Amino acid sequence: MRGKPHIVLIGPMGSGKTAVGKQLAKQLRMRFVDSDVEIERSTGVDIPFIFEREGEAGFREREREIIDRLSAAESPIVLATGGGAVLREENRRVLAERGFVVYLETSVAQQVERVRHSQHRPLLRGVDPTERLTQLMQVRAPLYAEIADLAVRTDGRKVHHVVADILHALRPRET
Ligand code: S3P
Repeated sequence: MRGKPHIVLIGPMGSGKTAVGKQLAKQLRMRFVDSDVEIERSTGVDIPFIFEREGEAGFREREREIIDRLSAAESPIVLATGGGAVLREENRRVLAERGFVVYLETSVAQQVERVRHSQHRPLLRGVDPTERLTQLMQVRAPLYAEIADLAVRTDGRKVHHVVADILHALRPRET
């Protein structure tokens, strides 16, 4: 199927990495791990609190450490990453080397729709979400594309359809 142990989900906030990752892991009988949840577990505080205390730079350093640690695991995992994980060159390298990288491609309108009620995303606090998510995508879209082994559109699609596309791409090719 692929010479890399893990499946890595990348994409912006509201692209469905957690929902898709959980279902995908279940189907593949693999462990699902979310890097944001692991950061919260290891620090004992939530992500907004880390941003408040240490700024985005502090959060990015913690994110780099956790991504390196999780992706070094020998047993295969489905790893959902935070929307900004691709910003660091080191993360892009490590994820591309150790995982089959799936980019959940999502329009800004759909991202906004999905994060509308979230209080958990410090980068969207007190700003216009459409404007901010558009800015973020300008910088990040090429970075997602750079390391993606597979890109799947998620707009207006149910989680199980997105999962089915990924499973289809992972099927061993018949020769
Ligand atoms: C971020 C996305 C969040 C989280 C943090 C920063 C980003 O994860 O890592 O709030 O920079 O886009 P999700 O993509 O899971 O919302």
